[in-house]
Amino acid sequence: MSTTSLIIGASGQIGTELTKKLRATYGENSVIASDIRDDNTALVNSGPFKRMDAMDYNAIKDCVTQYNVDTVYLMAAMLSATGEKYPEKAWHLNMTSLFNVLNLAKEGFIKKIFWPSSIAVFGPTTPREQTPQYTIMEPTTVYGITKQVGERWCEYYFNNYGVDVRSIRYPGIISWKTLPGGGTTDYAIDIYHKALETGTYDCFLKDNTALPMMFMDDAINATVNLMDAKPEQVKIRSSYNLAAISFTPSQLAKSIQQHLPNFTISYTPDFRQQIAESWPKSINDAQARLDWGWKHSFDMQSITKEMLSQLQKKYQD
Ligand code: SER
Repeated sequence: MSTTSLIIGASGQIGTELTKKLRATYGENSVIASDIRDDNTALVNSGPFKRMDAMDYNAIKDCVTQYNVDTVYLMAAMLSATGEKYPEKAWHLNMTSLFNVLNLAKEGFIKKIFWPSSIAVFGPTTPREQTPQYTIMEPTTVYGITKQVGERWCEYYFNNYGVDVRSIRYPGIISWKTLPGGGTTDYAIDIYHKALETGTYDCFLKDNTALPMMFMDDAINATVNLMDAKPEQVKIRSSYNLAAISFTPSQLAKSIQQHLPNFTISYTPDFRQQIAESWPKSINDAQARLDWGWKHSFDMQSITKEMLSQLQKKYQD
């Protein structure tokens, strides 16, 4: 059976690479990209693109009807650090876009939804090591609150309306193609850019702040595998814990120094330190591994090698 997918927020860090992967797998005309921004020319020119606001229910509905879309990936969101600057805006964007998509499924316009949650659903009262799937969740950021509430609504729509919605609690995602915007884990990308551009990086987190992280290729594989899983394999309809590795800024700096021995790092923690300290250091993702065969491939060393070599090429161009 052929599927047509719509990616909302396709110009973002994960959306760009997800669009590319799905177009390579299903054909460019089977994947409609959309975003409120249309300045990502590579994306706009690589297949159908619709300029769209994720908060505009009618625009999404028109697009879904026009292209016969059956699956929606909702990748638009305001992340943790920006969300603290614009709390109401973050709440409004993150919740309205989710309800738009859940209601389209409830009303029978689409069949399947992917919606990302985050490690931000956890908070200072959550056990921080090997954080279990089911545990205390008292998020303190607006972003975390929207993701936790969103998870509850996903499960509610599955239980009460039979909506096939699937979700992953992404850790910090490391990638070189598109920059992230406004996240607390973004230091783990900035650091590679600065290492190559200037040879030094001033980190906004403390040296020993451990956070769960993952390379983009692993995150995309997880997303595709979860969406390809048979419905009965998807036993969790709120959101799955997902893990690959955990490291601190100083450990990451050391892995860069193995390639660039003159690289130096300093630390000037800002408001993001408090956010990072409220999140887990490591995640227990046994359920995802059991239910739909999740397995990661990239460790910190292989991420550093790949990031430096890909970004080196980018800076040479
Ligand atoms: N990467 C996100 C952030 O830092 C977490 O989901 O906000």
